[in-house]
Amino acid sequence: MKELKDQKLAALVLLKPGIADVFEKYKLDFCCRGKRTLEEACIQQGVELEVVLEELGTEMKKNGQSKIDFGKLSPIELCNYIKAAHHTYVRQKLPGITAHTEKVALRHGDLYPELEVIAEKWKLVAEDLIAHMIKEEHILFPFVEKVQKCFDAGESFQLPEEEFISNPIREMENEHEHAGDLMAEIRELTNDYTPPEEACTTWRLLFSELKEFEEDLHRHVHLENFLLFPKALEMERAVFKSQKAVQD
Ligand SMILES: [Fe+2]
Repeated sequence: MKELKDQKLAALVLLKPGIADVFEKYKLDFCCRGKRTLEEACIQQGVELEVVLEELGTEMKKNGQSKIDFGKLSPIELCNYIKAAHHTYVRQKLPGITAHTEKVALRHGDLYPELEVIAEKWKLVAEDLIAHMIKEEHILFPFVEKVQKCFDAGESFQLPEEEFISNPIREMENEHEHAGDLMAEIRELTNDYTPPEEACTTWRLLFSELKEFEEDLHRHVHLENFLLFPKALEMERAVFKSQKAVQD
């Protein structure tokens, strides 16, 4: 087995549930930039590799696996999990966080203009994610389901084009990156979600909601980019190959 430092962040996250928390702590992006090895990510982030390795070692020794072994889920099961867990979470949280960003910006924006910028950026995150989830639920996930059903049945399924799901997947990956970048900007504007001493309760609540939201988004995007999409693409290639073989 490769040493931990040479493994990719996206793969390490799947080993134990607490590893994502260690990466969050050191701001090691395991979703949109999860293809980097641990060593590369630590160098880029200016974090001591040895310190992170020690914490990962502690996590690895802990008993208990994630309740769900995501690596064993099929693409259809992953789509269902993502919808039930993450899409539901996003839809539940958006209205409250939007109301809090607006309230705090209105009350304190004159003295803290960054609160107005946070409200504007959050509005973009909310609008983008709503549109993004609708596309996944109505276009990409049903396509993935078709490909897997055909793969499972071994039928020769007539894919309308060679890159049937590759194109929507590329588009979804770009949108993930955009949402991740906006949340990173919000994190910076909030000084890592640290409210000033004089912050009111809503302000404090807002920053803790934003922090939790970003962490959920990282897990959500990681499941799609590094598990669902590669599995679905692999099935698409296999189905297309058998379809070609039948035609030839
Ligand atoms: Fe997505």
